[in-house]
Amino acid sequence: MIATPLPAPADPLPARKPPVRKLHVVTHGCQMNVYDSARMADLLAPLGYTPVDRPEGADMVIMNTCHIRERAEDKVFSALGRLRVMKEEAGGAMMIAVTGCVAQAEGEVILKRAPYVDLVVGPQAYHRLPELIAQAHRTKNSVIDTDFPVEQKFDFLPDAAAPQGVIANLTIQEGCDKFCSFCVVPYTRGAESSRPATAILAEARRMVALGTREIALLGQNVNAYHGEGPDGADWSLARLLRELAEIPGLLRLRYTTSHPSDMTAELIEAHRDNPALMPYLHLPVQSGSDKILAAMNRKHKADDFRRIVARLREIRPDMAFTSDFIVGHPGETDADFAATMALVRETRFALAYSFNYSPRPGTPAAGLPQIPAEVKDARLYELQAELRRQQDEFNLATVGITTPVLFTGLGRHPGQIAGRSLYAQPVVVESPQPLTGEIRQVKITRANPNSIIGTISHSTKETIAA
Ligand code: SAH
Ligand code: SF4
Ligand code: F3S
Repeated sequence: MIATPLPAPADPLPARKPPVRKLHVVTHGCQMNVYDSARMADLLAPLGYTPVDRPEGADMVIMNTCHIRERAEDKVFSALGRLRVMKEEAGGAMMIAVTGCVAQAEGEVILKRAPYVDLVVGPQAYHRLPELIAQAHRTKNSVIDTDFPVEQKFDFLPDAAAPQGVIANLTIQEGCDKFCSFCVVPYTRGAESSRPATAILAEARRMVALGTREIALLGQNVNAYHGEGPDGADWSLARLLRELAEIPGLLRLRYTTSHPSDMTAELIEAHRDNPALMPYLHLPVQSGSDKILAAMNRKHKADDFRRIVARLREIRPDMAFTSDFIVGHPGETDADFAATMALVRETRFALAYSFNYSPRPGTPAAGLPQIPAEVKDARLYELQAELRRQQDEFNLATVGITTPVLFTGLGRHPGQIAGRSLYAQPVVVESPQPLTGEIRQVKITRANPNSIIGTISHSTKETIAA
């Protein structure tokens, strides 16, 4: 058809805008949920949904939930109780949607315990939200969608619409095929699947055009990434990181969360060869005991973890590590726990998360004889004391060095600006200019438990890394 430009009508009608509706999104759980929440808001924006900070008076509340530990699930039901009151006060004019991993795992239970919930949507069905909302409005009944559809949600979810900030996340892989004995993720997020590299590169370019300078690639098993490249071949994470590093303006790259079994030599070497890749790795090990690692079905030994850490430190001496630990997995003896403590002491972590084992319905370890709560508590206390010591030590060791900081915006107090170190530590300096999106060498003068303070340095001699 030949496109003949139509003459503009003399008195054009105003474009029909959807009515403004208030959307409040609550996000629990991991960074993947944070990312999904933002995409859901982007998807609903064309329907007139505008984000608001509070649930009171909202037309729609989305609770994006986490199922990883029992406490996470309890939070959902207590929050729903509060929303019920608000919904009643609004005469029912508040749509409540539960999304995320509790929706996936406990969809029917939610509707039974909280029948005032209008929508239950699993993590693979978010792209269907507009039609599910319409269905709930039309039928006045609760709607549940926890299917694992054949189509990939990312083919239908919009890319980031608004500027994501100087530091942003980008999901590249979802799901997990590892089936650790304790973990719900393979059941709530489904099988491992990687987004095509072309889509990721395009989204990253758009983010950079809108001001993003640092991207963290996200996935439950991000280093198992094997998405299709533009050449039709499967790309590894290292390959994808190489291409991303070529995007002008994209200064820093990270990736999380990794599994030790997928730390290939190529990926390890990327920390030496890829200048955009930060010397900082989150590598959950869970336990230092080979017996417990086997019981957890982790498919690696404590020494495999030690070897990865040693090799990375060899090729990138300023490398720092974070990890996750579980204490009190069924079968864990004092000797097993001592092996975890030994691994922690010798590795020296910049930061680590540690949890009491929490039995999750439907997972293999939940059916085994359990460790008493007071034993778990005592072990967790000891582990966390050591990890806190290491975290303080790591932060204190930065005092006096000069290191590159990426500035993200204004600080809390007038005259201050805020940024991130190579190790994602929040850094605050005094500066007359905002320097947003720029990297400057900063001399660290003080380390507080949750932030470090510095001054912008004009000499580059003391730099520890580019
Ligand atoms: N995919 C990542 C982590 C997923 S969940 C990985 O493979 O390591 C984040 C962390 O929660 C896990 O690393 C683990 O330490 C913790 N976790 C998962 N299930 C748990 C459970 N049932 N009880 C206690 N902690 C758990
Ligand atoms: Fe859960 Fe294990 Fe998969 Fe991580 S690797 S998401 S801990 S099953
Ligand atoms: Fe929680 Fe689901 Fe993430 S269980 S940790 S929100 S993948």
